[in-house]
Amino acid sequence: MKNFRGYKQSKLPKSDETISQTDPITPGGEYLRRYWHPVSLASEISTTPLQIRILGEDLVIFKTTENKIGLVHKNCPHRRASLVYGKCEKKGIRCCYHGWLFAPDGEILETPGEDPNSKQAANLRETFKLGAYPVLEFNGLVFAYLGPIEKIPKFPHYDAFDTPGITRRPYKIKYNCNWIQVLDAIMDPVHTSFLHGQSSGLQFSKGFAEVGELEFFETGIQYLGCNTRRVDDYVWVRVNELILPNFTQAGSAFAADGTKTRYFGRSSFTRWVVPVDDNHCIALAWGNFGERGDPIEYNNKEGCERIEAGEIMDRTLEEKQKRPGDAEAVEGMGSISAHKGEHLMPTDYGVMVYRRRIKKLIKDLEEGNEPPQPQKGKGDIIKTNGQDTVLRVPKRNIDDRKFIKSIGSAVMKLQFDAEKMSIKDRDDHIIASLSKMEEKGVF
Ligand code: FES
Ligand SMILES: [Fe+2]
Repeated sequence: MKNFRGYKQSKLPKSDETISQTDPITPGGEYLRRYWHPVSLASEISTTPLQIRILGEDLVIFKTTENKIGLVHKNCPHRRASLVYGKCEKKGIRCCYHGWLFAPDGEILETPGEDPNSKQAANLRETFKLGAYPVLEFNGLVFAYLGPIEKIPKFPHYDAFDTPGITRRPYKIKYNCNWIQVLDAIMDPVHTSFLHGQSSGLQFSKGFAEVGELEFFETGIQYLGCNTRRVDDYVWVRVNELILPNFTQAGSAFAADGTKTRYFGRSSFTRWVVPVDDNHCIALAWGNFGERGDPIEYNNKEGCERIEAGEIMDRTLEEKQKRPGDAEAVEGMGSISAHKGEHLMPTDYGVMVYRRRIKKLIKDLEEGNEPPQPQKGKGDIIKTNGQDTVLRVPKRNIDDRKFIKSIGSAVMKLQFDAEKMSIKDRDDHIIASLSKMEEKGVF
């Protein structure tokens, strides 16, 4: 009877607060408040105010009739009415209760119910502001910076913003769990073979069900999980990518299937996993379609959902049980998974390493050391590595697992060595070198 351990193991461990907390004042929330994050789709914002919640803060996002976007604290500083009932005007948003008018940067422009000569009102307008955050609209997403204004970083420029031959479709997907659970899936490239390749039938393309050889890389705050699979006569190198704290990419979902040559195809998505609060998060992203991304026929709402989570999102429990996707895997853990209750294995190396680093960066910040930004210098374009490459390399008379792993390493080395080139030169160089590698069979 010694195997029955239900009673012994019925007390659940506590979650790790350092890494799971996102609210203001918490160390984790403070760390996240050093970066630009997307907060909504541009298409959601209009002169009808929209209430959103980001990093545990209730906010209202709106557009003035002059097309300026404002992101402000939800409650009016006069007597706390919600600005979601406010009216958008030329210069800002007017509270419904007593008509105070606020500019997108939080300045109190008018307090109309008060005596125009009131010193008290003039003094308040002079010294006090509604809480507001800087925003910028880019490619259909609206980004905001929620940190201390004197520490605002430059908006990072990733090479993925400019990949030629890609049509970008903004999308937003909600998850009912802590942001770390969604991030974990990116640093866990082996789950694709099971969740997306075996447990649910085939959610993506054919070769996904093969279990590959894993290799993890850490450069600066970039974390890469490379999964190299053998699919018949082909070797498929697929790279998942995380740039801290929450920028993620991977290979394509549908374009590469390990059965035909592909050189340095780029990620199906360029996305950020943004905490709504400790128990919820959103993926805000572009689905990348075209020659270097996923096939253009997936450029629709359903396509984005399938790329994001392996399945469409709104389904019945029965459908979810038949074909669980990422949402089921990560939400099923509960809203904040207790890491102390896990039993991590060598395939979880990527998960282990990036979590440890985030915790270290949170601690460093508590001690006064600011966390690194993804861009090293001014005007830097950040080179990303999420991709897939498929080369025709039939088996040889050697240990095939070692052989395919060495091919994965060679492909990664090629990418790293080309890091300093311009985007176009790097692309051309990597593609030409992969073609040569395949032709000569030398890795
Ligand atoms: S509560 Fe907003 S103006 Fe009074
Ligand atoms: Fe997944």
